[in-house]
Amino acid sequence: MKERSISTTKQNALLMAGLAACCGLVFATAGSYAQAPSSADNEMAFNNHCRECHAFDKGDNRTGPTLYGVVGRKAGSVPEYEYSESLKASGITWTESNLDQWITNPNSFIPGNNMGAVFPGLPDKNERAKIIAFLKGDTKKPSGQ
Ligand code: HEC
Repeated sequence: MKERSISTTKQNALLMAGLAACCGLVFATAGSYAQAPSSADNEMAFNNHCRECHAFDKGDNRTGPTLYGVVGRKAGSVPEYEYSESLKASGITWTESNLDQWITNPNSFIPGNNMGAVFPGLPDKNERAKIIAFLKGDTKKPSGQ
């Protein structure tokens, strides 16, 4: 009887050690999420302001063209998307800085384009910064293909 109770104690100790190791892992994982909230934040900003008309999967054109790899892409160059003449003729290549101007007010940046007719612009600088960080960093990941 005595023997048995010792071995139960040992088992409990092992169980506790196992639990501690397991919970340690869970906390470590939670910690690494806490260090990178901005990526989720950035995607949320994109979802809130742009997703209604734009996807970021390759070839997935909606009301607007796909934004797959848009930073560094020539404006008006997605195949099979019907752009306005003014956007096609703009001759620009999208950069972080001209994207910021575009999202602030598409109509004043490229007058007569089709996005300006349906999207007045986003005055909130922080939201714009998040969206641009998202477009720059996340739209070429495998999940975005
Ligand atoms: C209500 C619909 C709508 C919303 C919301 C919208 N867009 Fe657009 N977007 C368009 C349309 C339509 C075009 C095509 C414009 C043209 O052909 O003149 C476009 C074009 C673009 C282009 C040019 C792409 C290229 O291939 O040259 C970029 C960049 C862009 N949008 C970014 C954004 C971002 C970032 C947001 C969120 C802040 C956003 N758009 C929100 C409809 C929208």
